[in-house]
Amino acid sequence: MCTGIRLITLLASFMTMAELAAEKIVIAHRGASGYLPEHTLAAKSMAYAMGATYIEQDVVMTRDNVLIVLHDITLDRTTDVSEKFPDRSRGDGRFYAIDFTLKEIRSLSATEGFRIQGGEKVQGYKNRFPMNTSSFGVPTLEEELELIQGLNRSTGKDVGIYPEIKQPEFHRDEGKDISSEVVRLLKRYGYTTKDHKVFLQTFSFEELKIIRNEILPEAGIDLNLIQLIGSEMSYPWMLERDGMEKLAGFADGIGPAKGLVISRESTTSNLEITPLVSRAHAAGLKVHPYTYRMDPGQLPSYASDFQELLRQHYFDADVDGIFTDFPDKAVEFLEAN
Ligand code: G3P
Ligand code: CA
Repeated sequence: MCTGIRLITLLASFMTMAELAAEKIVIAHRGASGYLPEHTLAAKSMAYAMGATYIEQDVVMTRDNVLIVLHDITLDRTTDVSEKFPDRSRGDGRFYAIDFTLKEIRSLSATEGFRIQGGEKVQGYKNRFPMNTSSFGVPTLEEELELIQGLNRSTGKDVGIYPEIKQPEFHRDEGKDISSEVVRLLKRYGYTTKDHKVFLQTFSFEELKIIRNEILPEAGIDLNLIQLIGSEMSYPWMLERDGMEKLAGFADGIGPAKGLVISRESTTSNLEITPLVSRAHAAGLKVHPYTYRMDPGQLPSYASDFQELLRQHYFDADVDGIFTDFPDKAVEFLEAN
């Protein structure tokens, strides 16, 4: 009898875990960027096939006002721009996407990220897809939306998108209203309500307010907005006791650096979970931290392996989703729990 009750209790708690896991999402950070060069359509297709719930797009603008999917506002780290257009850098030596037309950007080869060291290109993550091999390009946001919507049609699934407006103040200084352009494009592709599978994200609270109070109402649509939080120093008020409550007037969720959820000072035996998630949830905000990587040297010292890191964040800290370069691992983890 006692064993039977225990079994039922165990089963109930197991089902609760399964239900909990089913609610949680996997955001493919720059696509399946642990396996293929970030933000290429190949990396997005792979993320889709791996079962990601959402696929991320970092968005910047070209000189001729086209939205492209690129993490940096410069082309230096992920393309061969310095070889194809050697005399087109600015005074700081960087090649800004906003100085190039789409046609020029289409002539570039995209590659696994690298840095210049001693005059040589050195691949950032050494175990990832080999730099300067195969053939990849920089996609437009429109091409990527068509890819994901096309796959949704052919597979019958409903994978979401997660665009980030990159450096909106820089774009404004350059005379471009990137947020309005992104919202216009999202509307054109049918993303018009909070029930649609899109989260629009930015690190800029000032821009978030403009999007919420001006751009979305002017477009006649409403979308879920995510405030990214890079560190304790970004907007200190957001991490105060009533910070999440204040933010909830503008955002639907937060995307904090994962160190703001579980302190980097944690140890295996003493996990220091910050109050951020519980405060966000109390304010009705979703929490989607970034970035979970399993490359050598990327695991926080409090986690013995990637699966443990996922358990600590998804279940111990109770986040609603994570940005990861390895979406297959997070999908497998949630399916097993
Ligand atoms: O947008 C979430 C995460 O991607 C933020 O970091 O620098 O990779 O855009 P970043
Ligand atoms: Ca991003």
